Amino acid sequence: MEKEQLRSLFESMTWLEKLGQLTQTTGQHYVADMPEEMVETGPEMDGIGLNPVTLPMVGSVLGVSGAEATNKIQHQNLSQNRLKIPLLFMHDAIHGYITIYPVPLGLSCSFDNSLLFDVAQATARELRAAGIHVNFSPMADLVRDARWGRVVESFGEDRLVSGGLGQAMIQGYQGLEQGKIGPHNVAACLKHFAAYGAPLAGKDYASVDVSMREFFASYAKPYEIALQANPKLVMSSFNSLNGEAVTASNYILTHVLREKFGFPGLVISDWGAVAELKNHGVAQSDRECAELALTAGVDIEMVSSTYLAYGPELLQADAELQEKVNAAVWKVLELKNEFGLFETPYADAEAEKMTIMQHNHLELAEQAALQSCVLLKNNGALPISVQAQKILLLGEFAQTQELLGAWQCKGRFEDTVSLLQGMKKEFPHAEVHACATLEECQNSWLEDVDMIVVTIGETWNRSGEGHSTVAADMPDKHKDLLRKVQGLGKPYAAVAFSGRPLALGDCIETMPALLWCWYPGTRGGSAIARLLSGAATPSGRLTMSFPRHAGNVPVYYNEPRSGRPACESSYSSRYQDCEIGPLFPFGHGLSYADITYSKVVLSANTITKSAPVQLQFCITNNSNYTCKEPVLLFMHDVAARMVRPDRELIAYRCIELKPYEQKTVIWEINWGQLCYLNASLEPVLEPGPVKLFLNGLDNEIGSIECC
Ligand code: BGC
Repeated sequence: MEKEQLRSLFESMTWLEKLGQLTQTTGQHYVADMPEEMVETGPEMDGIGLNPVTLPMVGSVLGVSGAEATNKIQHQNLSQNRLKIPLLFMHDAIHGYITIYPVPLGLSCSFDNSLLFDVAQATARELRAAGIHVNFSPMADLVRDARWGRVVESFGEDRLVSGGLGQAMIQGYQGLEQGKIGPHNVAACLKHFAAYGAPLAGKDYASVDVSMREFFASYAKPYEIALQANPKLVMSSFNSLNGEAVTASNYILTHVLREKFGFPGLVISDWGAVAELKNHGVAQSDRECAELALTAGVDIEMVSSTYLAYGPELLQADAELQEKVNAAVWKVLELKNEFGLFETPYADAEAEKMTIMQHNHLELAEQAALQSCVLLKNNGALPISVQAQKILLLGEFAQTQELLGAWQCKGRFEDTVSLLQGMKKEFPHAEVHACATLEECQNSWLEDVDMIVVTIGETWNRSGEGHSTVAADMPDKHKDLLRKVQGLGKPYAAVAFSGRPLALGDCIETMPALLWCWYPGTRGGSAIARLLSGAATPSGRLTMSFPRHAGNVPVYYNEPRSGRPACESSYSSRYQDCEIGPLFPFGHGLSYADITYSKVVLSANTITKSAPVQLQFCITNNSNYTCKEPVLLFMHDVAARMVRPDRELIAYRCIELKPYEQKTVIWEINWGQLCYLNASLEPVLEPGPVKLFLNGLDNEIGSIECC
């Protein structure tokens, strides 16, 4: 539609119709006979509902997908909406739509922006074919506490990684041309702004209290970075932040998000969060909820409908609010127009069939799973010897297809490759057998078994939204299983599944090898089998530290330094009953390949604001494996006026190396990467040395003097 036409449509709208465009509801309001699997629902909202007058005015629907279902609803909407304004459909395809990729925490361990771009692009293709226009992804919430169920949806504990991967996903969803959504793309909704990942004691939806310095330096940084990819939408978060409910915070949603970070797009509330302002105790009535959220800058209200109920009277005498509503409605109409919905409101069911689970999406799912698994320990037990004739897969995950993780969207277990299926294919000449328990397994089988793969961890429904745990611990039954297997004296390795880092207890001491697979998605079993056989090498690195003990959370690599750093002395920053430091820190991950770094050269030994330094090094693959090597560069500011962490990541990249290939890498290090926020929230860097560490927290490669 031409802009003038859109403008005249806009001008013909009543206030109620405009507020309808700022209201989002669920599918079950539309078609009574819709099969349940086509419509997802969340918690019911009490209070004001939609009615036959307001329902046809609603602007968007969430949780419905598939050409058939969305077309039905769109048809009903267009036959009842006075101005024939089509609906937008929004969905949560957090790590794939029907083809499911590893969970985001797993994907982040690849440190591979282009992989996440590809995953998002393939997801967008399936979504768009299924009638979806907006994806509620990526989530760039910085996380440090493994008890929080939603760490599985995050990119871990580092701000650069969370921001960079978030940015890559937004580009993949929306298409490469900045600001213009391609024909097989969807609009991205970056969430949950802001600091939702730091709830008190890891309890979902709990309050967040962080200093403003920590907010801008750490928690807000990933969104700030991801926003550079111009997501069309941002979702405001459920939590309160430093005493203000975010949904009602003009400071967070207007001052920080729009004015400071320059976000020009639409802000949508989280599910029912506008009406939940009453539960926060910042509003007494739904009317007040509507007023607070609209004033703060929430453009679209998700699920509750206080805007439709109270908006018209609130707008009557408030020119400022009218202006806000007009601006928001105009953006909604523009987005609909950008999708060409006024001309083509329906999805093409034939195209949908062709697009879903395409061969290249499945291949990508396998590649993504290969890069997401992290080899945490290996004393040589892996890869499994090619001579192995009898392989036993043991434990709860040996043959399950439930490897998709939380937010599995429309992914189907029956399409998922289990570990047993993957191993049978990978070891065609061996006998591969699966047992849930040792007791189930015949002694004759155990006697001459060549390798036992013990599967441990948490089932997928132990993490995700509303699934926090009081302790992030490996279940006792799995620790017992490991002890029993250890007692057999047979070669074994462990393969773990979870949506969060888990404390492993003393099992780790005796465990010969441990491959952490998160939830690896549709092709998980094939990818893990290839890693176990050595057909491919593990390359993932942790983006979230593993605690030694469930009580040792939050634990993260860039904790601020202490005047009494942890050491043997009890008068140091440590627990008296636990070893120092994380069990496996951020960045840890082993490989079968032999990768070496050499010829490390810094172009200068001083750095100023205007004169960056170049870091050059060679990276060599001395093995027969094709590798995707995450390369991480850390800094250590020897002395600053404010307390800084011991190590901070300043750059990362995933570098592909063919067998025996050597690559020269050149990175620019600039002042902005090294500086920090002072007490007045200004970026500063005092004169003095900064040490650099490459490929590991302790591998110092030199230092530069800041002037
Ligand atoms: C979650 C969001 C999600 C929304 C819509 C909420 O409960 O916090 O992440 O996008 O529901 O499903």
